[in-house]
Amino acid sequence: MSDDRDVTVAGPRDEGMPIISPEKGTRAGQPSIEVSQSSSIVFSSRQVKRLREVLARLSGARRAIRFYPMAHPAVRESIATLMSLVGQYHSEGVDLQVTFFENELLLGEQLLPEESILFDQLIRDMTELGLGTMTFLRGLTTDEMERALPILSGEPSGVVGGLDKVAAAANIPHVLLSTVTTVDRADQLTRPADDHEAAQASYVGALDLLRELDRLIKHNRMVSAEHVRGVVRSMVDNVLDNRYAMLELSGLKDYDEYTFYHSVNVAILSLSLGTMISTDRRFLSSLGVGALMHDIGKMTVDIAVLNKPGSLTSEEWADVRMHPVYGAEAAALLPGLDKAAVPVILEHHMRFDLDGYPQRSPKRGQHIASRIVAVADAYDAMTSRRSYSAARLQDESMEVLLSSAGTAFDPVLVRLFVRMLGIYPPRSVVRLSSGEVGVVLKPHDTDITTPTVRVFADAQAAFIDPVDIDLSDAVEAAGRRIDCCLDAAGLNVDVDDYL
Ligand SMILES: [Fe+2]
Repeated sequence: MSDDRDVTVAGPRDEGMPIISPEKGTRAGQPSIEVSQSSSIVFSSRQVKRLREVLARLSGARRAIRFYPMAHPAVRESIATLMSLVGQYHSEGVDLQVTFFENELLLGEQLLPEESILFDQLIRDMTELGLGTMTFLRGLTTDEMERALPILSGEPSGVVGGLDKVAAAANIPHVLLSTVTTVDRADQLTRPADDHEAAQASYVGALDLLRELDRLIKHNRMVSAEHVRGVVRSMVDNVLDNRYAMLELSGLKDYDEYTFYHSVNVAILSLSLGTMISTDRRFLSSLGVGALMHDIGKMTVDIAVLNKPGSLTSEEWADVRMHPVYGAEAAALLPGLDKAAVPVILEHHMRFDLDGYPQRSPKRGQHIASRIVAVADAYDAMTSRRSYSAARLQDESMEVLLSSAGTAFDPVLVRLFVRMLGIYPPRSVVRLSSGEVGVVLKPHDTDITTPTVRVFADAQAAFIDPVDIDLSDAVEAAGRRIDCCLDAAGLNVDVDDYL
């Protein structure tokens, strides 16, 4: 990884923070989740552990009712144990809400990486059933559980329609079952093209905000919270509506205005990653504010120290490592600013394994929004040239993220990040197996190695009229695959000439 001035790390959740709240959404390329209830509960490790028992019992009950009638002792015992476990959540004052999202599992709004692996088969079964979220509300009766289990087991109900219709007909008021709707390929193909101008305007607006923030902070003044809110609202809109255009812009770099471009890129990458988990605007807005302002603490650190080519003295290091604290303090003092963003600023250099800075005693993990920003921050920092380190190539940076998954970074988020951008993200200059050279335009929806590439040089390194090749299309690809990323600056190629 690059110099520690840019090392960004991630860890588990924190309390008192914005929490993801999956809701109905229709963004192309991603399943949308419809939930009937969202919650802001922070579950304890004991409650998370108990969920393992619930899911194990649920799996057992699903098997049992396929083989035995409802009155069979094996079924009765499964139901009784399930009721007892769910009842423990209820006696603690919380409803039990479990979401099955792609290959992941969420308790309430909390991603559970380990459980997502442990209950991989159950997640797949539930997704196949069309189930997005199941919620057992307080007041649940054994009769309702008996009526809900056959539905959760995919038993034929005789009711015409999807899972929601079956659930509605089952008289289970304390069991909410909501569906997952996957946007099909045809819908994606008919989706309007990205509005590049709108995306660009949003990017420029965010850059201007950062410049103003820098100017005001240096004069001991603060920007208006309304201005921040407006910029972030525009970024959220564009990430949702003009995703590929925004992802392409997130590859922009500027050596002289590194911090400004870096902050905007981190916000775009964080918001894009955030939308893979939730399309809840409240969550995305807090995430966007935190991501955009994550490094504002650096604006009070001596620029000569930040850009010092050599290694830092221990005093200089101590000052640099305080920037999350300086930034969180400044954000906390800004009237009207979304305070849910403050912990994101504070925690963006913490790690998934609880290391990193600022240190806390006892050690506590990060909120999911901070973990998202940590991944985006590290990726953008690694791929940027700094006064003290060269830029890494995009595919190398992806490898660093992958090799740090589970230690520095949340492994689930790293997986989603790589799925989002592909191994060869937009704006990467790549060499194909044919020897041709091109620039990546956009990632493929599911295959991380086959983006669409605009080829601009042939195998003899002669420039040609650019040709777009979708490498996931066997006919277009004609056997080509990507060998590796190349250094655009070293090739004297200006990527923008081909976009
Ligand atoms: Fe930072």
